[in-house]
Parts: sequence; C-alpha cells; structure tokens
Amino acid sequence: MNFHILTLFPEMVMHGLNTSIIGRAIKNGLISIEAINIRDYSNNKFNKVDDYTYGGGAGMLMQAEPVYLAYKSVESNIQPNKKKRVIYVTPQGEPFTQKKAKELSQSDELIFLCGHYEGIDERVLEEIVTDYVSIGDYVLTGGELPTMVMIDAISRLVPGVLHNDLSAETESFHNNLLEYPQYSRPEVWRGKKVPDVILSGNTKEVEKWRLEQSIKRTKERRYDLYLKFKTSQKCIDVLKK
Ligand code: ADE
Repeated sequence: MNFHILTLFPEMVMHGLNTSIIGRAIKNGLISIEAINIRDYSNNKFNKVDDYTYGGGAGMLMQAEPVYLAYKSVESNIQPNKKKRVIYVTPQGEPFTQKKAKELSQSDELIFLCGHYEGIDERVLEEIVTDYVSIGDYVLTGGELPTMVMIDAISRLVPGVLHNDLSAETESFHNNLLEYPQYSRPEVWRGKKVPDVILSGNTKEVEKWRLEQSIKRTKERRYDLYLKFKTSQKCIDVLKK
C-alpha cells in the first residue's frame, strides 16, 4: 500500500510516521509514505498558495491550482489499474471509523489532501476528491494530524504489519464491542489482584469472562455501540450459549 500526502508541512507528517510499528512496516517494504509539498507547485515567485475568499469572510483559502498540480504529480505516476482513493481530511467529512479504515485498507494507493487556513477552493475538491473524512467533531488547525491518525489505523490492517494478525479479531470495535480488561505480571500490584478466573487456566471460563466484561464496558462507556451490539447476530449467538 502506498500513501501520498499533499501538505504544506511535509516534515510534520514524515517525522511523525517514521517510528515504531509504522516505521518498521516502511522498512520492511509493506507500506510506503511520501509527502508532497503543495508549495512547490505555487505559480508565483513568493511561493504563495493562499488568497482571499470571494464573497468576503475571515481568513485565507488555499488556491485550486497548486493543489491540483501537486495532485497531478502523484496521479501521473500511478498505473490506471491500481485501486486509488483521494481523501480530503475535513471536519465536514463522514466520521472515520474502524469500518472506514478497513474499507480504505483495500486500496493500493491512498492520496491524502491536508487543508490549512480556512480550507481549499471547492472547485479542485470537486475535481479530485473521492472521500471526505473527519476524525471527530472538533476543529484542528490543519489536516496533518488527522492524516497521521488515519494512516496509522489503516496501516495496521495491512497484512504483515502487525506481528499477530489475530489481534485484529479480538480488539475494540469488533462486533461493536470494546475490548475487555487485560493484565500482566505481577499477580498482585499494590494490593490489586488479577481476577481469579484469568489465572484459572480454564480457557472456556476466561473467554466467557472476557465477553461479559466487553459487554459491560461497552454499555458503561459507549451506549451507542452497545445498542448496535444488542441488535446484532453476535448478541443472539451469545444469548444462545
Ligand atoms: N481538519 C481540521 N479538523 C479536522 C478534523 N476534525 N477531522 C479531519 N480533518 C480536520
């Protein structure tokens, strides 16, 4: 999977994504990440890429042409048979969820467009964007952090990136449930003991306890997800047992 990031701050994204699991995935050739500086495609000698908004309003807008040329520099190197998406990260997008991460992880080439200032001229968005995606109902100063969040979530779904691909099956949001509590050594930490059932060695009982805990935690912390779980096949299967 190849990620291409159109941004005014390439060092920000490249620095942030080159460590830990994602850094290792890049080293192992499972994913690649490049940042394209939109400013390099400015058509004036001051490298300016923003201008006033027609019709009035506060702030500056990123102009269409530098964004388009930066996009074209990436797109012209992608073979037509590749599965490609162009994502504009914006608070006006659809919510980014584990489901959306899974959907996007099926692509070969993902191009992220990071906005700044008051946004980007609508005409270039209409021309190139396939997906408008938001990471939550709050406004950040630019699209770089949301892009890093999404690339992290998508990369770990690429086969081979996580050592243990099975963990994707048991982690939060699978079946609309949050993950159960987990414990490591020591057995007693500052007077708090690991639950007996976890130490029992009875796999069936451990599994049952974990599912109960997942349901309890989801009900307490994410009632919206709990309601989805309640009407799912998984819930029917659990109640049958
Ligand atoms: N850009 C600014 N805020 C954002 C958000 N919440 N999600 C995605 N992109 C953004």
